[in-house]
Amino acid sequence: MIIGVPKEIKNNENRVALTPAGAQELVKRGHSVYVQHTAGEGSGFPDEMYVEAGATILPTIEATYEIAEMIMKVKEPIEAEYPLIKEDQLLFTYFHFASYEPLTKAMVASKSVCLAYETVEKPDKSLPLLVPMSEVAGRMAVQKGANYLEKPLGGRGILLGGVPGVLPAKVLILGGGIVGTQAAWMAAGLGADVTIMDLNLQRLRYLADVMPANVNTMMSNEFNIRKLIQNHDLIIGAVLIPGAKAPHLITRDMLKDMLPGTVLVDVAVDQGGCIETCKPTTHQDPTFVIDDVVHYCVANMPGAVPYTSTLALTNATLPYAMQLADKGWKKAAQDNPDLVPGLNIINGDIVYQAVAEAFDMDYTPVIKYLAD
Ligand SMILES: NC(=O)c1ccc[n+]([C@@H]2O[C@H](COP(=O)([O-])OP(=O)(O)OC[C@H]3O[C@@H](n4cnc5c(N)ncnc54)[C@H](O)[C@@H]3O)[C@@H](O)[C@H]2O)c1
Repeated sequence: MIIGVPKEIKNNENRVALTPAGAQELVKRGHSVYVQHTAGEGSGFPDEMYVEAGATILPTIEATYEIAEMIMKVKEPIEAEYPLIKEDQLLFTYFHFASYEPLTKAMVASKSVCLAYETVEKPDKSLPLLVPMSEVAGRMAVQKGANYLEKPLGGRGILLGGVPGVLPAKVLILGGGIVGTQAAWMAAGLGADVTIMDLNLQRLRYLADVMPANVNTMMSNEFNIRKLIQNHDLIIGAVLIPGAKAPHLITRDMLKDMLPGTVLVDVAVDQGGCIETCKPTTHQDPTFVIDDVVHYCVANMPGAVPYTSTLALTNATLPYAMQLADKGWKKAAQDNPDLVPGLNIINGDIVYQAVAEAFDMDYTPVIKYLAD
């Protein structure tokens, strides 16, 4: 198969979808890998490393889309890329369709095959291609939150871990999945007083078992959220309903009940955000303030640590990319059920129910495309 790896063009996105080591594995299996000039540079992989691995460097994004049967990317295509996408081309990347209607409509119109990293799913319901980035974002959420709690950056001026004789900051984490768990480990490690909320009692039991003593668990509901936001310094949004828009657990009217200088880090912003007042921001301009509450809502947090993120992501995507390249998307999905829910749009049909529902568009069961 001919694989194309374009350079990411989203603001401050330095990750790349394939490392030189990954390119080498694909080339060894008889595939052709084309990498856009400087695509890996931001992650510390210069063109020469790809050439040594057996890949070919192409000068432009246009040439990369033009030649490829499968495009491997990190973030969803942005408007400038829409016209480059070809009918039948396989796009293997994060899409987060449910949060952005124009992208969904553009991909429907392109008649390409969109296999979304975020909805590839294992039989135990875990999301293997979301996990590595969630691990990075969860850890980063605490670093960022601690930073913005500093007074000159608009925060309450409170040190996350306190000091002897002074109480630590209170951290509330909404959602105890991968992001929430990683955030809790980091916040707890720094000495904060942490509470994780989730709807899933089994998950809360597990967290209560494995977390250190400065982490408490609590059932997620409006009553509890309204109570805790009144005295928590850092609130991290980390909920997920797979493939669907995040629910607004913190609404506009709740901001007035928070302490001035409270910091909100809505990691779920890529699924629409679980804090009503969050709108996506960038690494260049990451925060805004409403009612004295600092909002940090960067939609591609792992993009700021591209070295760690690229290696973590490609560790997880490469095994699937090899199956897709070896067999084509249809046979690969027939053989590996993890890939089936990853299929979101095929040849103009939305084959992932939650995406179709999000925009009141027609849904076509994926089986139409998988039957022999
Ligand atoms: N901004 C970024 O850069 C970035 C990076 C990685 C992940 N994310 C996003 O972070 C979010 C969380 O991802 P994850 O991997 O931790 O997902 P996950 O599935 O591991 O965890 C989500 C948790 O949310 C819980 N949940 C669902 N509804 C809830 C509610 N009403 N109240 C409390 N908990 C609720 C679920 O029970 C689950 O435990 C996703 O939206 C993901 O797309 C963003």
